[in-house]
Formats: sequence, structure tokens, C-alpha cells
Amino acid sequence: MKQLEISLFIITITIIIFLVRVMDSLTISKNLVDVIDAASSRYIASKEWRQTLDSFGIYLQTPGCTSLPQYPSKFELSRNYLTLCYDNEAFDIWPAIYRKSGELLVNEIKQQYKLDNLTAVFKTLDTTAGYFSVMKNAVDTGICDVSLSATAISGDRPSQVHFQFVVSDGSVFQSYAQQQLPKATIKSIPGYDDAWNMILNKTAHAFVADALDLYVWVRYHKSSCATCKVILFGDELRFGTFITNQFQSSSVSTWRVENVFWSLLLIVFMMFIN
Ligand SMILES: *[C@@H]1O[C@H](CO)[C@@H](O)[C@H](O)[C@H]1NC(C)=O
Ligand SMILES: *[C@@H]1O[C@H](CO)[C@@H](O)[C@H](O)[C@H]1NC(C)=O
Repeated sequence: MKQLEISLFIITITIIIFLVRVMDSLTISKNLVDVIDAASSRYIASKEWRQTLDSFGIYLQTPGCTSLPQYPSKFELSRNYLTLCYDNEAFDIWPAIYRKSGELLVNEIKQQYKLDNLTAVFKTLDTTAGYFSVMKNAVDTGICDVSLSATAISGDRPSQVHFQFVVSDGSVFQSYAQQQLPKATIKSIPGYDDAWNMILNKTAHAFVADALDLYVWVRYHKSSCATCKVILFGDELRFGTFITNQFQSSSVSTWRVENVFWSLLLIVFMMFIN
């Protein structure tokens, strides 16, 4: 009998430790969200971020935040890294831009809270199963703290995740071209690769696409496409980085963990007096 009690006790303690660890890892605190919001709003207004975009040939305006979110007085992070993710499928210069934004984000936080050892851990995710669902799942389950990929803020996405900031993007769509350019011969092709070739071999006069991609391509093909230029038109599409919206204030999570702890302890106690 005594032995059974001891084994039950050990099992229960194991379960408690497991639960506390699981809950801890799944709980994204409001504090983390507030810190990332405050840091994001500052680095996107920084000279360095502007210079980074310029250096990649992206001359679009980045709208500043109308109000600057306050930094919480303390940063309650029990580790010395932030996990920052972007999609495996990001091409050309995008990984470099994402990583730069992650470095600027972490530097902001480091300076604010004097955390010399805080580092950015970059992870890339295979998003062939669905770009948004994979990135959202990663931030919801704590695989990533922030999704750095430039995610279009459209449809019901804003209600599913917590977007940090937006960048203007003069994207245009096929339907727009059809409506606005009635006299043009519009050739719709899948993907970008052929379109670039058609511009280079002059079988197409214009390529209507995402302005950011066009800026970047033109910058890197100055010699082969000397007369090429980007003209902005169409509707503005906003995009940004995001974190989970499944966060809770840390006091709530502490209460939950403690609650589980006490109720399990009570069970153990009752087993002992039986
Ligand atoms: C930072 O890391 C160094 C060495 O890796 C260590 O000596 C130092 O105590 C750490 N500082 C903090 C604030 O954790
Ligand atoms: C131009 O490029 C496109 C896309 O790669 C290709 O399909 C087409 O055959 C090319 N035309 C000429 C004349 O080279």
C-alpha cells in the first residue's frame, strides 16, 4: 500500500511539472505583446530601417504610427532570445529584409531593457501547406514569437492574429488592369519568372505586379533593362509582421498554473489521508 502511494505521488508530481511546463510554453503573455508592439513602432520609424528599404530599392513610404505604444516598465521574458520566423519560400532579397527587421526589433528591446544577451533566433518555416495558416499556427503555439514575413493584411486575417505594423504597398491586381487598361492586351501568366523574361526579351511592354517586387527587380537588372522603370498605380495593400492574438495577461496565467498545482496537490493529500 505504501509503495502504491509513493508511485502515485511520483506520477502526480510528474504530471504537475509537465502541466506547468506545457502551460508556461503555450502562454504568450500580454507583456511580450506590448514589448514587441512598442519596439516595432520604434524601429520602423528609424533611419536604419528606412536606409535598409532604400538599399534594396524599395522607395515606398512606410506610414508612421499615429500613436507610439508605451513600453511596459519591465520585460518579463524568462529566456534570452526571441524566435523570429519567416517563410522558406521567401525569395531574392526578402530573407535579408526580414532578418534585418528582426535584428532591428531585438536591438530596440535590448537597448530599452539593457538586455545585452538578448538574441534573435531565426527560423524558416515550410509554408507549402498554406502560407497564412502555417505562420499563424507557429505564433499561436509558441514555435515563433513573431512572424517577420510581409503578410498582406486582408480578409479576416486581422481578427486572427495581432499585426504589428503596416507598410504601404502599391499592389495591383489583374482585375484592376482589366478595368483600368481597356486598350491593353493583357496576358495573364502564372508566377513571375516568365514575366521577367518577357520584359527582357521585349515580348511584353509592361508587367503589372506587386510594386515592391518590381522595385527590387528593376534595381537588380539595371544593365539588362536600362529603360525599365516602375510606375505606381492601383489600390494600396497594407501588410506587416504579426504575433499571436492568443495572449493573456501574465497574472491570469500564473493563477491558472497555481490553480492546477493546488488542485493536484489536494488530490495527492487526499490520497494520503485515505
Ligand atoms: C550575458 O552573458 C555573459 C556570457 O555569456 C554572462 O557572463 C553574463 O552574466 C550575461 N549577462 C546577463 C545579464 O545575463
Ligand atoms: C520570351 O520569353 C518568354 C518567357 O520566358 C518565352 O516564352 C518566349 O518564347 C520568349 N520569346 C522570345 C522571342 O524570345
